[in-house]
Amino acid sequence: MNITIFGTGYVGLVTGACLADVGHNVLCMDVDQAKIAKLENGQIPIYEPGLENIVRHTVEAGRLCFTTDAEKAVRHSSLQFIAVGTPPDEDGSADLQYVTAVARSIGQYMDDYTVVVDKSTVPVGTADKVKAAVRGQLDSRGLELEFDVVSNPEFLKEGAAINDFMKPDRIIIGCDSDRAADMLREVYSPFNRSHDRMVYMDIRSAELTKYAANALLATKISFMNEIANLAERLGADIEAVRRGIGSDPRIGYHFIYPGCGYGGSCFPKDVQALARTAESIGYEAKLLNAVESVNYAQKHVLFDKISHYFRGDLKGKVVGLWGLAFKPNTDDMREASARTLMEDLWKAGATVQAFDPEAMEETQRIYGDEARLTLCGTKEQAIKGADVLAICTEWKEFRSPDFKAIAENIKHPVVFDGRNLYEPEILERHGLLYYAIGRGRNQFHSE
Ligand code: UDX
Repeated sequence: MNITIFGTGYVGLVTGACLADVGHNVLCMDVDQAKIAKLENGQIPIYEPGLENIVRHTVEAGRLCFTTDAEKAVRHSSLQFIAVGTPPDEDGSADLQYVTAVARSIGQYMDDYTVVVDKSTVPVGTADKVKAAVRGQLDSRGLELEFDVVSNPEFLKEGAAINDFMKPDRIIIGCDSDRAADMLREVYSPFNRSHDRMVYMDIRSAELTKYAANALLATKISFMNEIANLAERLGADIEAVRRGIGSDPRIGYHFIYPGCGYGGSCFPKDVQALARTAESIGYEAKLLNAVESVNYAQKHVLFDKISHYFRGDLKGKVVGLWGLAFKPNTDDMREASARTLMEDLWKAGATVQAFDPEAMEETQRIYGDEARLTLCGTKEQAIKGADVLAICTEWKEFRSPDFKAIAENIKHPVVFDGRNLYEPEILERHGLLYYAIGRGRNQFHSE
């Protein structure tokens, strides 16, 4: 099938590449000329395992093409996917200007029946706005062409996006037209072989499903972080508690890992946007607000521990930092806990020596002018001469470090671990104090 994708960001590019991989003819459109020029040369603007390979071979095979020409993009197919950004407004609600701009282009250039597929995470009711924008353009052209709008939210995890796309848990189709539903079934049939993963529903429910999924996952994390903070103060170990509750299949082991807060492009933004949507219709989303405020506080927890250790005096202290990305296997630093920690440390007069296996370029882009940050080429360099070590991301290469070398290199024998990577006994054996999240036995207690 011919398919058009608007937006070559994370979602658009992964969707385009994977659809081309299974045989569709995909044209990706973006207004960013530099980005399109790079993609045409096989350069991928984001780090995502496996993506470069798929882009390269589908471009070579002629099934994946790029353009900045909206007219050409719309004329390419009767299936127009919208995968442009919905950045938060000042008050946290989703800004729909890019989505409606694409809808207007579609209305401006379409010349036959068209299905417009919303893949961007958009507030409930956006499909109506998309419909109105397309209709407005058709009206001004004096045309009465038929079209349908479908909500088809994505559930990709960064770092595992290709696998998530190729083997989805479910494919949500929110739609009020059989004709459009049939076309989407055909688009996704290669991913739907072993059992039927298509879940059809009305448009508004599909739009809400995306927010509900992310908000529930974020709730699990904030819940565990709250229990971790309690465990710390009660002398219990959250890791034992996690294993204890996870074995109940009604709870499960997924997304109950405590840590220094959730980040990324989805959870913080989506929880906030859903809370703002609730507010806008006069409903106070108490639980969502609490999930957000627990996470906000949790991002400061490592700093509080470091500050407590140094009795509030961090002037001139050097913190070695492992992990900058918001999670492993990505270079994405949006809403990353490491940023909160670094900014807290700088405010308190400390400096940071940081290392991340993938996010060094991104850190340079964001904090290139920051004199209190030294970017290090290896994790070993990051601890050389540092006062203490802090960890914000659970990259594999941090899991079994040379503890003896850590103890020898840092001036104060303390590791502040925001991801609970280690067994406290092992660090103790190496003479290291270990402050993790919710591990009561050797924790700091707020007096
Ligand atoms: C998330 C959703 O999982 C995905 O379905 C949606 O499409 C986009 O948002 P992503 O943001 O890529 O994906 O990352 P995810 O793996 O979900 O992690 C999000 C954050 O939660 C990370 O900062 C991670 O460290 C944190 N997290 C995750 C925890 O703190 N504890 C956990 O148990 C799980």
